[in-house]
Amino acid sequence: MFSSMISKFFGRKIDAEEKQTTHTVEVNWDDWSPPGENDGILPHSLSYTAATPYFRSPCPALNSLANHSILPHNGKAITKSMAIAALTQALHLDPKIASIFAAGGVAANPDHDAHSFDLNHVSKHGYIEHDVSLSRDDAAFHAGPEKFSPEAWETVLEVYRTAHGGAKKGDEEIVTDWASAGRARWTRVQSSKEKHEREGKGWTYGVKEAIMSYGETSLYLNLLGKDGVAPLRWVRVFFEEERLPYKEGWRPPVKLDQADLNHGFAEMMKSGEHGVEEAKWVGLGTLAALKAAILGLGASFIKTPSALS
Ligand code: HEM
Repeated sequence: MFSSMISKFFGRKIDAEEKQTTHTVEVNWDDWSPPGENDGILPHSLSYTAATPYFRSPCPALNSLANHSILPHNGKAITKSMAIAALTQALHLDPKIASIFAAGGVAANPDHDAHSFDLNHVSKHGYIEHDVSLSRDDAAFHAGPEKFSPEAWETVLEVYRTAHGGAKKGDEEIVTDWASAGRARWTRVQSSKEKHEREGKGWTYGVKEAIMSYGETSLYLNLLGKDGVAPLRWVRVFFEEERLPYKEGWRPPVKLDQADLNHGFAEMMKSGEHGVEEAKWVGLGTLAALKAAILGLGASFIKTPSALS
């Protein structure tokens, strides 16, 4: 029942309930090395071939786990149980959520009989990958969503910098919070829309994209911060180097579950300033409807039977 709802959301069969064999990962945060030169520079992710030595994804978390060798460093042949183990044992992500994400990864494999995925499989636009990413350019403009976009990212950094001291403070002194994270997310949505309009390209931003966008911001600040508060330096390390800032002092959260994610959504939506406009853009008319959509999906995750883990 729950799998069918998620499958509808992604437009593909997601078997989150499938039983998993136990897998254990070695976590050594000091072990980190960047991917090979061939990663992320191909004209389009789907043009990767089996001969490509390294695959990476548009997801800074998955790429970081591969760079730390918690997932295979080459980003290939990741089974559902390998992904669940990495997400739960290294990042302390709730097993139910990890199971859904991992199933989504496997379902992204164009070979629908496969039981694993390569990191570039999740780059397919319109499946999980979407426009308005914080650190990637939009599909109409980029050469592959695995590639970090300094231009998109600068839009985000600028909001954090002006919200917390402007030119007076260096990044070393700036910390995030839910309000500035919410504004940074919204500013990036606006800049994405404006760029599409300027360049005469069609822009896709509906309920699914909004849920993903809120979800990704809530994920990274719950992972890196305490109640949304993280040093901007750590956030930059995560997105720009695809590394967990362990040597800078970060430690995995004690837990990262749906209640934490929902808390992030609620805090980001508190001001309501832009929510009315955003609700219209995604075709939902009212802020209340947008809130219900964002929080509603979260609530259904919480209700998922424990059989998922
Ligand atoms: C198997 C597990 C996962 C899969 C398959 C996955 C997949 C993806 C994909 C395809 C994107 C691109 C979306 C876009 O267009 O922006 C993405 C973005 C993102 N993911 Fe993941 N992800 C996973 C787990 C996680 C976890 C555990 C976290 C953090 C705790 C995370 C944090 C993020 C963030 C912050 C972004 C946004 C990047 C940006 O906007 O530039 N992901 N993920």
